[in-house]
Amino acid sequence: MITDIHAHVLPFVDDGSETLEHSLEMLGELYSQGVTDVILTPHFRGDYVKTPEELYNVFKEFKARCYEADIPVNLYLGQEVFIDGNYKKIFHDKKVLTLNGTPYVLIEFAFENAGDITEFVYELKNLGYVPIVAHLERYTFSDIDLAYEIKAIGGLIQVNADSIVGKYKRKYSKFIKELFSENLVDFVSSDLHHKRKLMIKKAKDVIVKKYGEECAEKVFRLNTEKIIKG
Ligand SMILES: [Fe+2]
Repeated sequence: MITDIHAHVLPFVDDGSETLEHSLEMLGELYSQGVTDVILTPHFRGDYVKTPEELYNVFKEFKARCYEADIPVNLYLGQEVFIDGNYKKIFHDKKVLTLNGTPYVLIEFAFENAGDITEFVYELKNLGYVPIVAHLERYTFSDIDLAYEIKAIGGLIQVNADSIVGKYKRKYSKFIKELFSENLVDFVSSDLHHKRKLMIKKAKDVIVKKYGEECAEKVFRLNTEKIIKG
């Protein structure tokens, strides 16, 4: 069983899915790959700045459609928040959602020149949040020292399934290997968009094979429990 804490499946709210049909298709695919719980994490970035209230309304509607379509996946709401210089105001004004209403917040940065992301993580931590850095492997400035620093100040690390087995496999394999060997990965998630191929089952199989059942259980299930149980 898998809990996915990063997926752009909610329709009409970002670049994840433009139609209800696509969203239901994506959810069905997640279910078929062993995902029983999904936290829907629309972007808060650029043009995608729906208010929490707007998101809740779409979420409620979508949940009802999933129930009608008989897809037995538990749904929760969150957001993937792009962090730049304005982030303190955004959080202070409560313009963004944490994951399932918990202190856990999924954050992403510019892929290049994001500034000192440990400082952002540190400050969010001081504001009472538990920051989860989305797809750490994808930033041009990422390295193992940064991963250690994030963990040392109380941040958590999420890696994308398609960086482990998909089209980015070769590009990130060395770093991914280091992260797993040093036991620094907290979550593996799909970061699913309609046009991306879902690789979560394959990624899980690879992790079981290379790092063991216990490691896979941790990054796909155990670490997510606190977020799901609130
Ligand atoms: Fe994402």
